[in-house]
Amino acid sequence: MKILSVFGTRPEAVKMAPVVRALAQTKGIESRVCVTAQHRQMLDQVLDLFQIKPDYDLDLMRDDQSLAELSAAIFTDLDPILAGFKPDWVLVQGDTTTVAITALLAYYRRIRVGHVEAGLRTHDKWQPFPEEINRRVAGVAADLHFAPTEQARQNLLREGVIDATIALTGNPVIDALQFVAKQAEPETVKQLLDKLEIEKPMTKGPETRRLVLVTAHRRENFGKPLEDICLALKELAERGDVEIVYPVHLNPNVQEPVNRLLKHVEHVTLLPPLDYLPLVHLMKRATLILTDSGGIQEEAPAFGIPVLVLREVTERPEGVEAGTLKLVGTDTQRIVAEATRLLDQPSAYAEMAKAVNPFGDGHAAEKIVAALLNFK
Ligand code: UD1
Repeated sequence: MKILSVFGTRPEAVKMAPVVRALAQTKGIESRVCVTAQHRQMLDQVLDLFQIKPDYDLDLMRDDQSLAELSAAIFTDLDPILAGFKPDWVLVQGDTTTVAITALLAYYRRIRVGHVEAGLRTHDKWQPFPEEINRRVAGVAADLHFAPTEQARQNLLREGVIDATIALTGNPVIDALQFVAKQAEPETVKQLLDKLEIEKPMTKGPETRRLVLVTAHRRENFGKPLEDICLALKELAERGDVEIVYPVHLNPNVQEPVNRLLKHVEHVTLLPPLDYLPLVHLMKRATLILTDSGGIQEEAPAFGIPVLVLREVTERPEGVEAGTLKLVGTDTQRIVAEATRLLDQPSAYAEMAKAVNPFGDGHAAEKIVAALLNFK
């Protein structure tokens, strides 16, 4: 069985890494990897961490490129690889432009498609944009759907997907997280936490200084919503008893407003995008996480860290139901109020800070490989 895994961004690489490693260890499977490199630096960090050497690298990232330019380039450059390698299966993960275009292209070549992290939906085509439509496109083209949770499976069944083509596998993000969380805390993280005096007693009062970790980069938040998020961070920083650490995504639409509004603010540390290993370790040490990322909504519950989700809707209701995620949107005062409540009220904090893991048991990759081998 010949399998081509195609991915393009950092989060896809994190979640596909356990699958790629499992495929490589399976007899009877010839596994190759193609990266579109829709991200460059951010993707390469993850490839190094998981020691994945792509067989094909389309190197498609251009500065601030449009979705149309990227899509056209994937069609043009991936097609000859499908024609040459002739895989039996193409695997894609999640909901990026790489996923939607690759799934469609594989269909044009009459190659079977396996979709990892299938069935996530907000049922609002504009949120997240363009991911909600990207994952639906992948779902329409897919022959085998690897649903991470029962709710994701139910979403697919409601859309008429045949039950026998859905495998309930969990999300390989938990496999990746376990692999990385076991490794020692990197020196860079230790040094940063020491410098910021995290968990050190404060000179005034009995409290210790706490870490608030932030990531925000979603397209539907570009413009005013992202600016409102930054203003909330500025206000929270004025408390003086928290250190806000924000690794800033390389997209120019994120870099510009974040640097303009937060660069010289006391108690706010802006960092370049972090490698997955330090990010996971920072997450473990955070008191509170504010994010619009999808993956962090899956990872933080596993550590029992409360997450305020900077979005109006989520395709990960499992974490909200479990009580560790709370949707707060992007309104400045709402963010400040919700964060303040958690920081000031131990009972409110304790209610959210419970470790649950609705997204997988760390064995998703092997279940995905088994489902491929058993497909009839
Ligand atoms: C993409 C995905 C989004 C995912 C996110 C994770 C789409 C439409 N969006 O958004 O679903 O959540 O990745 O990060 O597929 N850049 C660099 N270096 C990098 C990466 C990006 O300079 O390593 C800059 C480039 O200017 C690039 C821009 O960021 O053009 C945007 O990257 P792109 O892949 O188009 O979208 P993201 O906003 O990263």
